[in-house]
Amino acid sequence: MTRLLWIASLAAASCRFEDVPPTAAAPDLPSASPAPAAPDAGPEEDAGPEAAADRADAPGASEAPKAVAVATPDSWATDPEKAPYSVHMTWEGEADTSVVFTWATAFNDVAVEVPRVIIQPKAEVEAAGQFTWGPATVFEGEGANYKESLLGVDLSNDLHVVWTVRATGLVPDTDYVWRVGFGDVSLETGELKDPNWSELGSVRTAPVKGSRAPFTFVVAGDSRGGESEIAARMDRYVAVDARFWLFTGDMTVGGTQPEWDSWMGVMQPLTTRRVLLPVQGNHEILADLYYTQFALPSHPELPEHLREHAWSLDYGNVHIVGLDSNTQVLAEEQVPWLEADLAAASADPDIDWIVAFFHHPAYSASNHGSTSWVQKNFVPAFEKFGVPLTIAGHDHNYERTVPIKGGAEVGWQEGPIHVTAGAFFAPAYSNGKKWFTAVSHHGDLRNWMILDVDGKVLKATVWSGDGGPGVPGQSPLDEFTLTRPE
Ligand SMILES: [Fe+2]
Repeated sequence: MTRLLWIASLAAASCRFEDVPPTAAAPDLPSASPAPAAPDAGPEEDAGPEAAADRADAPGASEAPKAVAVATPDSWATDPEKAPYSVHMTWEGEADTSVVFTWATAFNDVAVEVPRVIIQPKAEVEAAGQFTWGPATVFEGEGANYKESLLGVDLSNDLHVVWTVRATGLVPDTDYVWRVGFGDVSLETGELKDPNWSELGSVRTAPVKGSRAPFTFVVAGDSRGGESEIAARMDRYVAVDARFWLFTGDMTVGGTQPEWDSWMGVMQPLTTRRVLLPVQGNHEILADLYYTQFALPSHPELPEHLREHAWSLDYGNVHIVGLDSNTQVLAEEQVPWLEADLAAASADPDIDWIVAFFHHPAYSASNHGSTSWVQKNFVPAFEKFGVPLTIAGHDHNYERTVPIKGGAEVGWQEGPIHVTAGAFFAPAYSNGKKWFTAVSHHGDLRNWMILDVDGKVLKATVWSGDGGPGVPGQSPLDEFTLTRPE
């Protein structure tokens, strides 16, 4: 491919940090993440033009890289039909070296355009004031068309498209900046050809597995049409220096494409800065649309119909498990994989924490109540392999249980605690109190969780919808700290 033959400096003015306004549409990158600590070897040693040239010698580069000056367009979206929207990031596996980008366009001919991501360490782009176009920074993917469908039956003739590009070979624990879209560079003139690129986004790769460096992640669930309330509070979500978000399902009321376009549009200031990993709720009724638009880990050990429904990945010293709790049959079918996955993670010396999340709570004293098939199928595995914390949604309130093992209360950290945090602006439910309830709050307050992991210590801070770190007059709805033995 010609893109392997050269390095081209790319448009400077529209991607310089100081030129990126701190608006919802354009991430203010410098504040998104702190600079990484200076290691003896790592990102800093790999930064700079020399490193970029070295990477151009990656497999596939057939000759020395050739610098090509590229004209600077004022805008990188020259055709509104091809302007990216619903841009978001996930991981399919190696969170330390890869990121998966997914987005939509009104233009839907997948045979005509090649989707690309240009992604480069923030420090390099900041130093040069521009991206470098080359084999280590530009990745190509594919587009896939789909229609709204339910159980294989098309509900509409509207043809949608999802563009997916996987960026790989990234440097762990490093801040990157990126754009996604369409466009190539002329080798002869160095000019961009028909550029249609997103605004500048950012992401930080995970530290290598087993890292005990502190980090933060966020868990939320159940929005179901609460986009206006989310939008009104987006600044406080973006302000949290989280490395990723987990979402416990029920993003939408029915999972139709207009709902997804609305939800992703509102969430985009976050999803262009943070990886967001979801599980399917019962309200993602058009399930195909959910699985089409989110690229999640696909484990070959699972039956094909359960891939991406149940998944796990490692982030530093945390093993994250996402499960599909939607039916008893599905839950039963996931158990063999879940047990094998938890057995491996619990025996892994690099893993201190296993956090499992899914939509239907094992224990809840609110409207829907406890979920028998979660208790029967998932909970025994959690207890057997020492999972300390599960997080669910579905009941639109907040509840934390006492530690439970074998259906009875046990001492602190002698069994998992089960959290329901299902009020990210879905219609509120009242909270209840049963023998297993340690803390609960009415859904009117709304909620979202910040989890700070520092080696063997995990601290959870639960905020109301109007709360958040540093928000005047707000205090957490709940706080708890778990520790692992040294
Ligand atoms: Fe639900």
